[in-house]
Amino acid sequence: MQKVILTTESAKHFSLSSARMNIGRFPGGEVSLAIKEGLSGAEVFVVGSINAPAENLLEMVFAIDTAARLGAKKVTAVIPYFAYLRADREKFPGDSVSAGTIIKMLEAVGGPNFNIVSLNIHSPRAKEFFKVPFSDVDAEVLFEEKFIGLKDITIVGPDEGAGSRARDFARKIGINNIAILDKERAEDGSVKISGILGAVGKKVLIIDDIIDSGATLLKASEFLKEKGVNEIYIAAVHTVWRGEGFQKLAESDLVKKIYTTDTIAPPDNVPEKIEIISIAPILQKIFS
Ligand code: R5P
Repeated sequence: MQKVILTTESAKHFSLSSARMNIGRFPGGEVSLAIKEGLSGAEVFVVGSINAPAENLLEMVFAIDTAARLGAKKVTAVIPYFAYLRADREKFPGDSVSAGTIIKMLEAVGGPNFNIVSLNIHSPRAKEFFKVPFSDVDAEVLFEEKFIGLKDITIVGPDEGAGSRARDFARKIGINNIAILDKERAEDGSVKISGILGAVGKKVLIIDDIIDSGATLLKASEFLKEKGVNEIYIAAVHTVWRGEGFQKLAESDLVKKIYTTDTIAPPDNVPEKIEIISIAPILQKIFS
């Protein structure tokens, strides 16, 4: 089957060789999209993250729908950063469960042979919303070589949800020391760390799925400093570059280095303390 890759605007930084898809804006700002290739019988990969602005999501929906309508035999949405999956339950009364809503939208347009691939989605709970085949590819593997062989480091999960992530990563790089923090997030988004399960030495690596406001990792770093830690590394697959979270973390004296990836296109002025590892090799495997 002929394989065709289509990239939305949010995937341009991967420099993939995309088939012709014209994306623009109508005069009023609405998204316009046209696929200028015959897709009949082809296996089509539509690549793009769906982080804000919401136009990224619309481009993805329109591209999937158009590819299916043009007769693609199989359509795969490759969504390196699958936004909204943190809203996977009603945390506070009246919250929208946006994870389920977004998945329903994509599935509604994908056609009879549709599947979705993403990287390090927020939680196992989010997987339950998918009705079409879904794969969650692990990009933390890209961080392994940075830490493999270290002996005097503790791997820290900044909250209960990150516990299994921390355990898995520690096992892969051969570390036995793990600690999990007790985190609470209030309805206004503020974060409180109130305890720790496990012990830490002087050096830690905090593993999380995402840096957004930076509050989780800042509070975790402050807490760990009080416990005597003086060297903090951070690894998080996704960084939401739109906010100031990454800047605040990079400016913190507590944090020595941050490793992340380009699942969301990074800005030009990324602080030196942040090392961005490209997910390009993972994308190539998905297409092969
Ligand atoms: C929470 O459950 C997630 O794993 C992240 O810790 C969190 O979403 C990061 O967000 P922020 O940087 O805004 O604290």
